[in-house]
Amino acid sequence: MTRKLFVTTALPYANAPFHLGHIMEYIQADIWVRHQRMSGNEVHFVGADDAHGAPIMIAAEKAGISPQEFVGKIAAGRKQYLDGFHIQFDNWHSTDGPENHALSQDIYRKLKAAGFITSKTIEQFYDPVKNMFLPDRYIKGECPKCGAKDQYGDSCEVCSAVYAPTELKNPYSTLTGATPVMKSSEHFFFQLSNQKCVDFLRGWALQDNRLQSEVANKCKEWLEGDGGLGDWDISRDAPYFGIEIPDQPGKYFYVWLDAPVGYLASLKNYFNKTGRDFDAFMADPTTEQIHFIGKDITYFHTLFWPAMLKFSGYKTPDNVYAHGFVTVSGEKMSKSRGTGISPLRYLEIGMNPEWLRYYFAAKLNAKVEDLDLNPDDFVARVNSDLIGKYINIASRAAGFITKRFDGVVTSDWATADDAFIQHLRHAAPEIKALFESREYGKALRAAMEQADLVNAYVDANKPWELAKKPENDAKLQEVCSRLLEAFRILTIFLKPVLPQLAAQVEAQLDIAPLQWANVNTPIPHQHKIHPYAHLMQRVDIKIFDQLFDAPVADAAPATEEKTSDIEALAEEIKIDDFAKVDLRIAKIVNCEHVDGSDKLLRLTLDVGEGRTRNVFSGIKSAYQPEQLIGKFTVMVANLAPRKMKFGMSEGMVLAASAADEKANPGLYILEAWPGAQPGMRVR
Ligand code: MSP
Ligand code: ZN
Repeated sequence: MTRKLFVTTALPYANAPFHLGHIMEYIQADIWVRHQRMSGNEVHFVGADDAHGAPIMIAAEKAGISPQEFVGKIAAGRKQYLDGFHIQFDNWHSTDGPENHALSQDIYRKLKAAGFITSKTIEQFYDPVKNMFLPDRYIKGECPKCGAKDQYGDSCEVCSAVYAPTELKNPYSTLTGATPVMKSSEHFFFQLSNQKCVDFLRGWALQDNRLQSEVANKCKEWLEGDGGLGDWDISRDAPYFGIEIPDQPGKYFYVWLDAPVGYLASLKNYFNKTGRDFDAFMADPTTEQIHFIGKDITYFHTLFWPAMLKFSGYKTPDNVYAHGFVTVSGEKMSKSRGTGISPLRYLEIGMNPEWLRYYFAAKLNAKVEDLDLNPDDFVARVNSDLIGKYINIASRAAGFITKRFDGVVTSDWATADDAFIQHLRHAAPEIKALFESREYGKALRAAMEQADLVNAYVDANKPWELAKKPENDAKLQEVCSRLLEAFRILTIFLKPVLPQLAAQVEAQLDIAPLQWANVNTPIPHQHKIHPYAHLMQRVDIKIFDQLFDAPVADAAPATEEKTSDIEALAEEIKIDDFAKVDLRIAKIVNCEHVDGSDKLLRLTLDVGEGRTRNVFSGIKSAYQPEQLIGKFTVMVANLAPRKMKFGMSEGMVLAASAADEKANPGLYILEAWPGAQPGMRVR
């Protein structure tokens, strides 16, 4: 029986381009979707931009454009990533589309009619300059416990105390610097604490095979923890970029209410465009609704979302599959550390998107585990497994078929008891089941075990030896034909992961698109294939230098419009702003030229930390290294480390220069008065 599947990935915030974590999630879901399509199932795979919320509104305002324009620009950039990595969404939409406005309001109305919406007046911080309520992330102040300055409204980074934003001392709005005032306003709540809700969620979340066991356990904790579930605040006051709450002027849905509704909205938009019946599809009890998400947004998808759907009379999700986070060489992805790999850069420098698909697949399983991108591991998997074990089979067999047999393949040897081919066929159900259960790493391992057997067959039958004697021609054609048939079956095993490569193989073998069902239908006897063309290159580890390469820091000071003889003064700051910059006395223990750079010197600095720091500085035009060794200078010690072309730079030394560097090119590094010791703070 064919299944009807509605599959989604989390809707990315429309305030930034995709990063590698997004791409991994899409590849995970895309592999599953392709596997379903190869199984003959009906799949509708949709995504959308998550357009709403305060951060996007504020970012748009800073950019001087409307939020609609802002998210439109981000949306316009999506296609090149999705196409580039062969991610085949049927539709990409936006949570600001008309379908989402209508569906979100409909769900709200139904929840309200069913008695699940309550309202309450609450007090919150309000920015009297900006005239808006402040989300917690825009409030900072002094920690109520240790007094550390500039701490966020929920916890202290210095002493780890946890508190409410209202407990901060001397709070200020990070948007305007104004002191926030308390202001009350009516908010609307979704009554998650309702017993009906709790009972439903327990049954839903703990149903067999719905959630991963670790996710189901988390849900159980949330449902049964202290006080159970609290009601969920679903409203925000104007100004807000979002969807208006029906009959409540000036009130908007909190972004996380309308975001998941965007799944339905994108499907509806797609069905409308393609003449399908959205309501009928969603009302069909055999339709399966499946969400792929990251571990950080499980709460929203396993509590709020199913409950919202249930009590508004919509279909509830069948499965929610959570994945872990991508790390790079064991570290959290971070631009400043040089581990924030840009997926576009990956494509631009000519790295093959299917290498990444293969690598992620090889590392993925059905658990909620983080996944590390490690260059050595990447090279090993692509070169040894993908190329060494799989691609090489084709190159070893197809050449002879083309050169010696005019491209003609035989299969009259393919009797039911052909043990070699049968063995490959018998592996298919297990590999297929592993794709089904999202155990891609195991699926690829099982496929590579089969590839090992095929390579053993090559070594046992030595086609290159057979080719030496014309009397062995029939045997040579049989061996190579068998190998191509084996290669065809292996291609089916890998096709969910390597769709582009599979298409090349199909074209070369001149066969119809491969499906799981084709495992048992060999290339026909006397079928003619096209001449062999190389299928995939090996990866060279050196290319990772380009992938991680960040632009060289520009050492030139910014030139300003001149109003007097000196550079114009920067905007006025408070003492607190200055205190954010941690200046320390640093001893220059070593200094050297940087090969290949005409601007930089490499400084080794002692800041009294018991280790030295490596800092690149654009002062080569002004100093010889030996002039600087042994001097005491001043550095910015809390600057985020920065990956530069020549290595990591862990801070910045201070130097004076004129605004107009052409007219006045001097550069003067600061030197401390005698007596200052490494590590002393400059304040
Ligand atoms: N807009 C919300 C989701 C709304 S769904 C109705 C959101 N957006 S996001 O852009 O921050 O994240 C989108 C997806 O990317 C989430 O599933 C998130 O878990 C995932 N990832 C974000 N960083 C990631 C990694 N470093 N690694 C893997 N996935 C990561 O959350
Ligand atoms: Zn503190």
